[in-house]
Amino acid sequence: MTREQYITDAVELNMFYSRILKEHCALDAAGLPPPVMRFVQSFERYKVHFEMLLGECLEIISHLPAAAREAGEMVTDNTAKCENKMRELYGVSENPRITALQAESISKPSAVPVGRLPIIYEHAVKLNGKGAELAKGLTELTQTVSESLRTGQAAAAFYPAECTHQILEAEQYLAGLRLLEKGGAVYGYNVSAVRFWTERHKEHALVMRGDLDPSETADISLANGFAREFNAALAVLDGENGLDALVGTAERFADYLNTLVDRQLSVKVLTRMPVLQADHILRETNYLLRIAGIKG
Ligand SMILES: [Fe+2]
Ligand SMILES: [Fe+2]
Repeated sequence: MTREQYITDAVELNMFYSRILKEHCALDAAGLPPPVMRFVQSFERYKVHFEMLLGECLEIISHLPAAAREAGEMVTDNTAKCENKMRELYGVSENPRITALQAESISKPSAVPVGRLPIIYEHAVKLNGKGAELAKGLTELTQTVSESLRTGQAAAAFYPAECTHQILEAEQYLAGLRLLEKGGAVYGYNVSAVRFWTERHKEHALVMRGDLDPSETADISLANGFAREFNAALAVLDGENGLDALVGTAERFADYLNTLVDRQLSVKVLTRMPVLQADHILRETNYLLRIAGIKG
């Protein structure tokens, strides 16, 4: 692997996951009540650290490949509005500058600087080290919260299964970091990564279904349908045309999520899922669509 490839993989990996993990922290902080304020404070601390990591990724954003820039996996047109809702409705502090800066940097790519490769390489190595340390710490915290929910020592507005889901996503990040440190390319076509994200999408659809107000029968039925489709896609993923079935489902899921975020922002649908979570899942869907598309 060349130094350029290492930098490219490091910036893609850390930029995608630093925002994902930062948002897990915000969503968990928003869903925990006063008796477990210590957990809320710990999630908020990790959120600030992931924001700092994201800021450090932005310093080398010129190395982010166009495919990752254009996939809608880093920020969407609605991400900043969704973060405002986290502040207004849940009191979770979000740093609006980092999102504005990320959106601007993605829309106006700067030229890759010439002659600074050794410095940028060192920067990328440090990003990987910091990312690994933070992801491990957050995983331990999420594990503790999960155990507290499962043993009745804490209550939350989210499901214990969402803790497991977040831990799996953090572990996927850590696996990518380990692969990169061993000299492996993270972003070639990788069927196990596609399978991993398909499994997570089945979980997304199930959680969405459970968060909808019982009066939202049409959306409940759609969410159930997506859970069944992702499950069916998993069963045929390794077969001929398996990827086509998955991509078709994921594209329709992304369309649905886009509409859902708009409807949530204009209060046209009743759900207890924070709108940032719907936007977050949409970016994870866009990510899955990009990595599934690498094969073609
Ligand atoms: Fe996530
Ligand atoms: Fe997820």
